[in-house]
Amino acid sequence: MSCPFSGAALNGMFPTPNTNGNNSSTKDKNKPEKLTYGNYLHLDQVLGSNVMQSELHGDPIHDEHLFITVHQVYELWFKQILYEMDSVREMLSSIPVDESHMLLINTRMGRINMIMKLLLEQVHVVETMTPFDFSAFRCYLGGSSGFESYQFRVLENKLGIVPSWRTSYAQKSYTHVHHGPYLEDIKQAEKEPSMLNLVERWLERAPGLEEDGFNFWARFSDSVERMLEDKSDEVKNIENEAEKEIAKAEYETLKETFDSILDVSIHDKLRTRGERRLSHKALQGALLISFYRNEVRFHQPYQFLSLLMDLDSLLMKWRSNHMLMAQRMIGSKAGTGGSSGYQYLRSTVSDRYKVFVDLFNLCTFHLPPAYIPQLPRRVKRMLSIPNSPQMPTVDMERLSLAFKKRMEEDSHKELSVQEENSA
Ligand code: HEM
Repeated sequence: MSCPFSGAALNGMFPTPNTNGNNSSTKDKNKPEKLTYGNYLHLDQVLGSNVMQSELHGDPIHDEHLFITVHQVYELWFKQILYEMDSVREMLSSIPVDESHMLLINTRMGRINMIMKLLLEQVHVVETMTPFDFSAFRCYLGGSSGFESYQFRVLENKLGIVPSWRTSYAQKSYTHVHHGPYLEDIKQAEKEPSMLNLVERWLERAPGLEEDGFNFWARFSDSVERMLEDKSDEVKNIENEAEKEIAKAEYETLKETFDSILDVSIHDKLRTRGERRLSHKALQGALLISFYRNEVRFHQPYQFLSLLMDLDSLLMKWRSNHMLMAQRMIGSKAGTGGSSGYQYLRSTVSDRYKVFVDLFNLCTFHLPPAYIPQLPRRVKRMLSIPNSPQMPTVDMERLSLAFKKRMEEDSHKELSVQEENSA
């Protein structure tokens, strides 16, 4: 496809706004405007929207221009992130997820993460402003605050942050500053299946979890039992009493750790406390994918899990950068939005706001290679080709068995015909 500005082909084809930025041409309402760089991008509106409050008050403060630009750029990128995330959520919504979409899902997740990296860096642009420069126009900001960014709230909700995990803000709901359609969007995003819900559902169906198939969980549980028995024997064989005590304590911790995943009731308790987010079955799926990540069918899923952790990390780093920048600018003063400021922001740099916390903790349950259950040949074959609903997988083993059976039946028939003939 050619660039819309490269030739005359597209010129005049679109009803575009005039260069004044409004949609009604004053010259001739029926004649479409010539497509230009400016009106294609609606630059009049975009560039005309940096309105400095200090200037309106007859006291122009140079740095307010930067402050507005940075916030506007953030909002544009938030919009793009939401756009990409909606498409990923849509692809994850089908049951089962079409595995041929995994590359596109990962490409879009990678894009979201790239944007997040830009957003992290932008905090440093704000830091080129001194606290004196900021305080010179802060009085013109009134009660407005980044806390009111409704796109940021929609983004958090679409990722999977639920209201009960949030730290309280001046003893009020996080939505108390939002009204009308903005509030509706935030509430709608609370109700829709979030990335966390969709990833959970997808993980629960990971191939290899089937109890009548590979039954990964039974094999994993056996391996853990074997590993703990070996460890216990090692402890028993230690002769030095002091060393034995240390090894015993280590063994108990290890056992407790693995009990927390093998015993579903412990897992569910941790889940109610918000320390774990994924269902037990989904956690099994995540472990399965991470153990057998080198199998072709798990390449993209494993990368997807890494990208989800990257996104969580980047958001956490943004929260941290923003918190430090806010402290540098306002110290321990209250925020313009009415929160305690730095203290409030510090409370958000925590695992409560880490959506995929279970993926970060997955390696707690990794087993030494010798204890990882071996894949039978049949399962290895099943994991060597990606599955797609449009391309039903062929169970080669069953196919060759059926073929063998038919050959046997045919030769049997042939034999009986020969016998009949000779009789
Ligand atoms: C001088 C620069 C900045 C300062 C001093 C500052 C300070 C604060 C403070 C104190 C809060 C807590 C709410 C309140 O009481 O107001 C807050 C929240 C917030 N700010 Fe900023 N901010 C700055 C720049 C930015 C920028 C550039 C963005 C980009 C969009 C941003 C986005 C947010 C968001 C999304 C929240 C809500 C965070 C949450 O509730 O988890 N801020 N900011």
